[in-house]
Amino acid sequence: MDSFIIRGPSRLEGSVRISGAKNAMLPLMAATILTGGRCILDNVPDLRDTRTMMKVLETLGIPSGLEDGVLSIDATSVTSFEAPYDLVRTMRASIYVLGPLLARFGKARVSMPGGCAWGPRPIDLHLKGMMALGAKIRIDHGYIDAQTGRLRGGCVILAVPSVGATVNIMLAASLADGETVLENAAREPEISALAGALRCAGIEIEGDGTSTIHIQGRESVEPFRHSVIPDRIEAGTYAAAALITGGDVTLENCRPGQMHSVIDKLEACGAEVTVTDDTMRVVGPKKISPVDIETGYYPSFPTDMQAQMMAVMCIAGGSSTIVEHVYPDRFTHVPELRRFGAKITLDGHVAVVSGVKKLEGAPVMATDIRASSALLLAAMVAEGETKVLRIYHIERGYEDIENKLRALGADITRVAD
Ligand code: EPU
Repeated sequence: MDSFIIRGPSRLEGSVRISGAKNAMLPLMAATILTGGRCILDNVPDLRDTRTMMKVLETLGIPSGLEDGVLSIDATSVTSFEAPYDLVRTMRASIYVLGPLLARFGKARVSMPGGCAWGPRPIDLHLKGMMALGAKIRIDHGYIDAQTGRLRGGCVILAVPSVGATVNIMLAASLADGETVLENAAREPEISALAGALRCAGIEIEGDGTSTIHIQGRESVEPFRHSVIPDRIEAGTYAAAALITGGDVTLENCRPGQMHSVIDKLEACGAEVTVTDDTMRVVGPKKISPVDIETGYYPSFPTDMQAQMMAVMCIAGGSSTIVEHVYPDRFTHVPELRRFGAKITLDGHVAVVSGVKKLEGAPVMATDIRASSALLLAAMVAEGETKVLRIYHIERGYEDIENKLRALGADITRVAD
């Protein structure tokens, strides 16, 4: 298992190219199952999660190959209908194969994902959605066993606007008989990206980006070629890196138009942010101002940026409050940030961060993708050496992060333990 050694403090300067979005790519990879043909995805990041999803597809009998950001997937035939525990437990989004397998073949067996590092993450809405379209579901030895004849369109009202449930239901509804109306759907840009690909594949979809999505199912879905949108969370993380290090970083190939809530908070901290359609320059202030943040569903502030902004708040000139509304327990980074000397109190889903003058390097452990990137941010401003253990979490969601950070001036090296 590799670790990162980071020596701080450093100031980041220069430009960085933002990769394709993990959370947009995974639904597209699952969507290929619907097609029964060869699909191409462009701007695909080479991440641990990309490789895991390729393995999930391979287990189903679907070969794929990734070269220079171009992912080719041949879903002509499928030889198995089971996503096994060993893969699903390492990446929850493996559950995205449930909807398309059911819709195309009338059967699927997918391991239940189980909990994650920051507590329970239910999948009840995915299952209710499949049942609303006519599937019969039973839980069998830790597996979701789903069967159906042809799915039929229906009305699904989500109790919360879950991204994953919205994806799975959109995929299933694409091959269902008739129209599906999905109410209280997630409005994240990754949902619109999936809708765009499905439209390319011949499916009529309206309302993506709003809370009500209409999907007109068809008997077949055409193979498609589609480009993965830039990763707004990776972009936000590099923006936070510019902010925390008082640096000057230009993000290339990003979509500032999808990042308003994050840009507002960067500016509230004192950063100067200049945007074009696809670039964003962030100049950090001499002294960071404290800000209060509440996470929520898009277009509110993303939970996937909470840990990184908490790292920034650790050295702000005052006290900040962070309220986590999406995942109330998503605070595994708090004890690790305290190891740098950060002052954070936690009461349920509310964290109060009292800015300190300086952080000190320390050995710390990555616990999930975003918590890990928060530790890298803290390490870059901390004095002395930090060792970040278990960096495979970072590799799940950040393409080539050490080279990107090094090119911006960070002192970061990978070591094998
Ligand atoms: N929820 C339910 N029942 C369900 C599904 C979700 O109650 O069946 C609840 C969750 O407990 C949570 C809320 O709904 O409180 C939102 O969860 P959602 O389903 O939207 O999350 P997800 O689809 O499992 C995706 C991202 C996460 C991101 C969340 C929230 C992917 C592959 N994952 O997860 O990304 O945090 O949406 O935006 O798209 C990450 O990239 O690091 C990451 C964790």
